[in-house]
Amino acid sequence: MDYQLGLIGFPIEHSLSPWIHESFMEQVNVKGSYRRIEIQPDTNFQEQFSMLKEKKLDGFNITVPYKQEILPFLDKIDPVATDIGAVNTVSVENGCWVGYNTDGIGYLRSLEKAYPKIMKQEKARILLLGAGGACRGIYHAFLNAGFSHIDIANRTIEKAENITTLKNEETVTKVMTLEEAESLIDRYDLIIQTSSVGMKPETDRSIIQLKKIKKGAIVSDIVYQPIQTAFLHQARNLGALIHNGHTMLLYQAQYAFEIWTGKRVPIGDMESKLKLILEG
Ligand code: ATR
Repeated sequence: MDYQLGLIGFPIEHSLSPWIHESFMEQVNVKGSYRRIEIQPDTNFQEQFSMLKEKKLDGFNITVPYKQEILPFLDKIDPVATDIGAVNTVSVENGCWVGYNTDGIGYLRSLEKAYPKIMKQEKARILLLGAGGACRGIYHAFLNAGFSHIDIANRTIEKAENITTLKNEETVTKVMTLEEAESLIDRYDLIIQTSSVGMKPETDRSIIQLKKIKKGAIVSDIVYQPIQTAFLHQARNLGALIHNGHTMLLYQAQYAFEIWTGKRVPIGDMESKLKLILEG
């Protein structure tokens, strides 16, 4: 089969997804192509999506600003994506568009690869910083994986509270301000920065200041430009274990590719190759 794949979004000219998926295809001998399909935000969305149906794609990724706008155009939505309320991967199955969200599972896979032990510590205390779409996906994945203590700190408390509606009875979630998070930070085994704070060009910004940290804590940032954010820099100086954002990018793509082709491609040295690309 010759897979016709692509990425929909705006702006996407610098997206690394084509490189990732073409590398996957090469590795497992899958024929096909992965194209960038830019949709300008000021165009008629309905028309653009009808045209997309004509393109006979086998699957595509969908990124900002369309992860929610796509929902009414889907024939079916996977339950995880329904809970998260956003789709980043569409598989065309017998002509039907089926929506998935691979962010949360991709994040967990990347964490497990770097720190396998944490995935078995379901009582670990986890703190998520930020409460946007990425936080929602990651929170959902930890809930599903059986973790019992996942707190959320955000600038806007209501947004964090809204995410806790996903919660089950076994999980305890405390919602707090970023200031509270700063003062309680040494309680946590795993701290995950899920907002865009610290992304290029504002690389000197950190969502909170880390003054102390629990011994052996893992500190993670989903921002991957730069790979070493100011937040991770602080964490490293305090002796934390570090988890970089570019690995999530690879593993969410791995899961998307698996949905389209049924093949799970080993990430192997793609982590270091992607790091080199990002570091220019
Ligand atoms: P998404 O598009 O994924 O929903 P977003 O709207 O960019 O994400 O917001 C992601 C998170 O970054 C939010 O939690 C946002 O905080 P608010 O809910 O208070 O808006 C957080 N965020 C963005 N800029 C921030 C900043 N300067 N300081 C603190 N948090 C910030």
